[in-house]
Amino acid sequence: MCGIFGYVGERDVVEVLVAGLKRLQYRGYDSCGIAVLDGNELAIVKEAGRIERLEQVLSRYTFQAKVGIAHTRWATHGKPTPTNAHPHIDCHGTVSIVHNGVIDNFLNLRESLLNRGHILRSETDTEVIAHLIEEELSKISHEGEKAFVFLKAVMKAVSQLKGSYAIACLWEGAPGVIVSARQGSPLLIGVGNNEACIGSDLNAVLPITKQVILLNDGELALVTQTKVWVFDIEGKEKKVAVQRIEWEVTEEDRAGFPTFMLKEIYEQPERIRKIIALRCQGANPPIFEELDMPPSQLIGFRRIIVQAAGTSWHSGLYGKYLFERYLRIPTDAEIASEFRYREPVLEQDTLVIAISQSGETADTLAGIRQARSRFVPVLSLCNVPGSTMTRESDAVIYLHAGPEIGVASTKAYTAQLAHLFLLTLHLARLKWLLSQDNINQLLDQFNQLPEKMEKILDEQESIVRECAKTFLDSRYFLYLARGINYPTALEGALKLKEVSYIHASGYPAGEFKHGPIALVDKDTPVVCIAPVDSVYEKTLANIEEVKARGGRLIVVTTEGNRDFDEMAEFIFTIPQIHEDLTPLLTVIPLQLLAHHVAAMKGLDVDKPRNLAKSVTVE
Ligand code: AGP
Repeated sequence: MCGIFGYVGERDVVEVLVAGLKRLQYRGYDSCGIAVLDGNELAIVKEAGRIERLEQVLSRYTFQAKVGIAHTRWATHGKPTPTNAHPHIDCHGTVSIVHNGVIDNFLNLRESLLNRGHILRSETDTEVIAHLIEEELSKISHEGEKAFVFLKAVMKAVSQLKGSYAIACLWEGAPGVIVSARQGSPLLIGVGNNEACIGSDLNAVLPITKQVILLNDGELALVTQTKVWVFDIEGKEKKVAVQRIEWEVTEEDRAGFPTFMLKEIYEQPERIRKIIALRCQGANPPIFEELDMPPSQLIGFRRIIVQAAGTSWHSGLYGKYLFERYLRIPTDAEIASEFRYREPVLEQDTLVIAISQSGETADTLAGIRQARSRFVPVLSLCNVPGSTMTRESDAVIYLHAGPEIGVASTKAYTAQLAHLFLLTLHLARLKWLLSQDNINQLLDQFNQLPEKMEKILDEQESIVRECAKTFLDSRYFLYLARGINYPTALEGALKLKEVSYIHASGYPAGEFKHGPIALVDKDTPVVCIAPVDSVYEKTLANIEEVKARGGRLIVVTTEGNRDFDEMAEFIFTIPQIHEDLTPLLTVIPLQLLAHHVAAMKGLDVDKPRNLAKSVTVE
């Protein structure tokens, strides 16, 4: 989704803004632009398409600027054209604004502005904000420091908005100042040494400084090179809380991999190693230092609702299998956008678990707010420190997947599964449902994951590549599995859809004969996830049914299993591991398959069409 960056300081502003935009581009965008104050004059350059194109245009100009704002746009209102790209300006071109979010009442605001003689150039909801600021500037006194005059005008303008926004604005009348406001869309401020920046995301801000102010909803900030002020919407000054955020910023290069997605698939063993080092010291139950919820509360829940979106929902489903099996707690895994509007029954002895890579997904966030408004505690499993979900939940467990740049989630997924497994052991120990011996045995299996993941990456990649080449032109794929690998079938299908644009569906293998089997013909690739586990015999029978109807079988199974030698066209193997850990292995060939199909089709794997990394609108 859209990204915001802004800078005030001594560095080359255009260079810093472009670098900031590049760090935001993984979120998905279709146009981009910057505004700088060159002396007292606003200069705006914006383009449809890639940042490289903007850079080319920028190379024709020389600006003497100390302050600027920048934006990557993911179109909502109006096509991705240079006119609709941000920054937007007022009638006179003295106010400039970038915006993330959606202004729900923009049509009314636009109509009244037009009636009052404003000329609006774009189709966006954002542009109305620049014009509202212009009007407010014309109404209020310009006595006193211009920075505060500007702040007051922005405050009055945003109080007319309904919807969600994170904005950053410049005004020719107050050079050296960025005014920002936040309501429902993330925004943070980096406070450096004689410089400051603002950004919608840590990736953009942390290369400048690790000292960060996390703005809350309903707050505005006045940002200058040497000082930052924070106010509420009534204009009351608030105490500024600067915190140091430790988070590795991803290198822009892909470390020799052709795509970030492939780099991130290959990073998984290392990530799990880090999680082991952090959570499983010796043979103790897993450690969650940051989990700020007393054991007495943790053992008292009688129901769990996991709510999340997309890939994170798939890991939530995996959590359901574990929680019910080991903790005997009834668990639902809910799609966040449904959970929120379904009027769910929420009782005091329920724990809501939210899972999210970004910590900013609007649907999941709304579910958190809904639960908390009904006094139901929320535990979030989240990858990004300081994100809105981590601040709005009762307790947090960090995923330690490191920044994920590819839009298709891979390493964050396995980090989610790993943490759900460890959380289950932690709760089982607290509730005395597993002995120390049982925990040790399970942790011993868990500790073997990195090595086994590496083995798959080393030994299976060429077979997966061959398979991708064979099925490149297929129109649709089916994915089948039972039990704890059913979420793997959903995840494998989602990965393929996201990056290759080939339709794919995941089904529980036992459900397949109740309808979807009608789809199978002699050309249909059917990916069957069938490790040798407690439901293997049943899965095998379902696979036979598919084979009998001519489907072309691609099977993921355990090393040494020869059952598919005659039956399957491709077999991807995983090393032997405890059944409940197989999803962390079986997903790897499926991630590779999706990647290779998309790459062979010549598609932009890291930035698939229509998708955004962080989905901050409903
Ligand atoms: C994953 O590949 C997708 N890009 C998407 O489904 C994602 O998992 C979903 O939007 C939820 O995001 P979150 O984990 O950041 O909340």
